[in-house]
Amino acid sequence: MADASWLIRNGRIIDPGAATDTVADLRITNGYISEIGEELSLTNEQEVDASGLIVSPGLIDVHVHLRVPGQDHKETMATGTAAAAAGGFTAVATMPNTVPAIDSAEIIGDILADARASGSVRVYPIATISRGRLGHESVDYAALVEAGAFAFSDDGDTTADSGVMRAALLASTRTGRPVMVHCEDAALAHGAMHEGTIAARLGLDGIPAEAEEIVIARDIMLARLTGGWLHVLHVSTGRGADLVLSGKQTGVNVTAEVMPHHLTMTEAWVDGDGSLLHTDYQPLRRDVPTPDPMAKVNPPLRTPADTSALLAHLQRGTFDVIATDHAPHADDEKARPFAEAPMGMSGLELALPTMLGLVRAGHLTIHDLIHRLSTRPAQLFGITGGSLQPGTPGDVTLIDPDLAWTVSRETLRTKSANTPLLGMTVRGRATLTLVDGRERHRL
Ligand code: DOR
Repeated sequence: MADASWLIRNGRIIDPGAATDTVADLRITNGYISEIGEELSLTNEQEVDASGLIVSPGLIDVHVHLRVPGQDHKETMATGTAAAAAGGFTAVATMPNTVPAIDSAEIIGDILADARASGSVRVYPIATISRGRLGHESVDYAALVEAGAFAFSDDGDTTADSGVMRAALLASTRTGRPVMVHCEDAALAHGAMHEGTIAARLGLDGIPAEAEEIVIARDIMLARLTGGWLHVLHVSTGRGADLVLSGKQTGVNVTAEVMPHHLTMTEAWVDGDGSLLHTDYQPLRRDVPTPDPMAKVNPPLRTPADTSALLAHLQRGTFDVIATDHAPHADDEKARPFAEAPMGMSGLELALPTMLGLVRAGHLTIHDLIHRLSTRPAQLFGITGGSLQPGTPGDVTLIDPDLAWTVSRETLRTKSANTPLLGMTVRGRATLTLVDGRERHRL
């Protein structure tokens, strides 16, 4: 049997870029998609029965934390990319809030070498905006792009110095790579959860929506000033999304992403709630001490009205992509008291089942979902994938939209199972993930 050659039979082939939605066979020959058709004859490929499954271009997540280099107690190249493949992703872009921060060509080279040696999916390193991710001095943008930087970001923190942000956006007009911004005014963000009635009741300091919105507004202005490409990370408030939309409508080069957790979960999760809004899931009964550090994430889970506004913006196209912000943290770190626990949730393996919940509830079509999780990120960021057209590399994900499974440390491949969804039975899972026609995950 030829390596990297497959005959995938009878799947529902969905390719949003080509407006394809058909039950047929898909052939991959020596790592490349070669044919779509009915009752194709088997030559020497591996044969897979995909009846009842969706055949999708491999999913792409432009916002993950693989924790490489330096934080292998949280995640490694091997565990993080295995989690990606298990979640249906064939490519991920990894953030530079690492130890050390990804601010040199040498570190980028090391990450790419690590990915070749022990990665299961395509890995795109994101470099910092500022040296050491400290916010003061610009990195050498051109040299980092030359070394393979996918984008620039000081994610985890806002680049408070507007001059450094201006320089980064100006550089993006030359390199063509985006500046991916974590929008949060640090002076307003001393808290550990959304500033609102629940934080007040729990006696916790909050992070107001305005902390995010002020910086989104500033960065859109700087993108207008420079003509640079601004990509707004993890928008969590309705007004933040309104700002992105008005930037787009007035010709600013701004794109944006939304996360599954901000679309479906609210601040009430910190207090033990388990409702996944806008999905077909019954609320999860969670027997957890509150406030629950598993529900601590940055930007924080916001209000029900914010989730509805974000969903409306997703439907109308304000958000170019859905990304996960997969943010693994070790058990002992998340076991600290709420105020001291690190922010972040494990997300790579949960995006598909939670977002399929939106599809089943009728809020999003399966095409729109695959478009935002695959086709659009590939087109927007100019990377491999996002298509099932013959001649393209065999990055393909088979999805069983109905497969029920329970989220647990045993069922997740990530090294850190820090998700408040532990114990929940969800529906939908990748059953086979191929990168260049090579098997990277199989149930
Ligand atoms: O919740 C978060 N966790 N938000 C971020 O911006 C950073 C991330 C992390 O690195 O853990």
